[in-house]
Amino acid sequence: MKTARAWRGSLKDFGIRQRPNFKGPNWVIVLVCLVSIFLVGLYIYQPRNAAACYIFLSRSCSDLENTPTVPTRELTDEENAARVVITEILKSSPASPKNAKVAFMFLTPGPLPFEMLWDKFFQGHEGRFTVYVHASREQQPHVSPYFSGRNIRSEKVDWGKISMVDAERRLLMNALQDPDNQQFVLLSDSCVPLHNFDFVYNYLIFTNLSFIDCYDDPGPHGAGGRYSEHMLPEIEFKDFRKGSQWFTMTRKHALIIMADSLYYRKFRLYCRPGFEGRNCYADEHYFQTLFYMVDPNGIANWSVTYVDWSERKWHPRSYKPQDITPKLLKNLTSYDTSLHFTSDEKKTVLTTPCMWNGMRRPCFLFARKFYPETLNNLLQLFSNSTSV
Ligand SMILES: *[C@@H]1O[C@H](CO)[C@@H](O)[C@H](O)[C@H]1NC(C)=O
Ligand SMILES: *[C@@H]1O[C@H](CO)[C@@H](O)[C@H](O)[C@H]1NC(C)=O
Ligand SMILES: *[C@@H]1O[C@H](CO)[C@@H](O)[C@H](O)[C@H]1NC(C)=O
Ligand SMILES: *[C@@H]1O[C@H](CO)[C@@H](O)[C@H](O)[C@H]1NC(C)=O
Repeated sequence: MKTARAWRGSLKDFGIRQRPNFKGPNWVIVLVCLVSIFLVGLYIYQPRNAAACYIFLSRSCSDLENTPTVPTRELTDEENAARVVITEILKSSPASPKNAKVAFMFLTPGPLPFEMLWDKFFQGHEGRFTVYVHASREQQPHVSPYFSGRNIRSEKVDWGKISMVDAERRLLMNALQDPDNQQFVLLSDSCVPLHNFDFVYNYLIFTNLSFIDCYDDPGPHGAGGRYSEHMLPEIEFKDFRKGSQWFTMTRKHALIIMADSLYYRKFRLYCRPGFEGRNCYADEHYFQTLFYMVDPNGIANWSVTYVDWSERKWHPRSYKPQDITPKLLKNLTSYDTSLHFTSDEKKTVLTTPCMWNGMRRPCFLFARKFYPETLNNLLQLFSNSTSV
């Protein structure tokens, strides 16, 4: 940058002071002008390529390797507008975490069977969390004071359809209204906590990562069977990602979701069950693909909500009362590697070590799915193991 400014400066001086008396060969002036214009042009447009980095040693170049590849095609107006807004949000400094809160956002059809377990989890930590409930089918009175009056306006949610994403956005837009909320956790009615509040709070607040599950599945349940070329030019096949919908998200990422209409529209129109004979579920692809494209290093790539797909059925394993033992809790809290399986014939196992601020940590803070009948055993288990 200094070089460019120096060049501009000398050009200006040259032009104003020296030109009247200058008798030297004109080609020098022409050459100097051309080089200057080239450098000024490069400086203004700051192309993110190695040549520009070499010339300017600009600060933005240090993250060049980490930024998503800039497509060679010309961007549309909408894409340019989206990039400006997203870049600005990502650049902003995160708010001071002095009064930082975690927003617990419950997406549920009706009552929450584990409300009393969450009540126990929250007790004594007032002021460090907020609760939001999107009850899409029945609005029932709550049993815990932490939950009463916390229902937000809701709409019908159809499994696998865009209305699921709309409900997630509705939860985010409500939770964002509290400026102290710094991490936003999406939970279901069948989710339970695996650790005590302090553990969960510290894990989520003292990191800049969103725990968004994100991996490349070329098989029929991933890009192979669900991507549609209608998503072009903005979303290419190679960028289409998959992951569980149960996320935690930083405030910046939640704001990006509020600001985005371009990518959202692509998923609303072209990622839905039955579209062109494919079954695409927007809640498993939209956030995953968007953040893979715009901030891959800002997401952990695994979900902090455990779920057991090892039975390889259409639905994950659900825990029954007799399954609730100290051994199970120990098992679920001891994973420090997250696993994904691709759905193609190769059935590749993808492993992600759970790295938190450079340390290997347990992957999971929450788990699903639990039958409502497990409540009493879970309450007992949690009062027995207060140190978790
Ligand atoms: C998060 O980002 C801010 C600003 O970039 C930085 O000061 C802070 O140390 C980061 N926190 C962690 C835990 O990495
Ligand atoms: C998440 O995965 C992407 C590649 O898919 C990688 O670039 C990024 O560094 C990963 N995030 C973290 C925090 O390691
Ligand atoms: C948890 O239990 C399952 C089933 O018994 C076992 O396969 C798995 O390795 C255990 N995981 C850990 C981290 O202990
Ligand atoms: C909790 O502790 C009590 C008393 O030690 C014991 O009877 C009970 O089985 C324990 N519950 C669980 C779920 O481990």
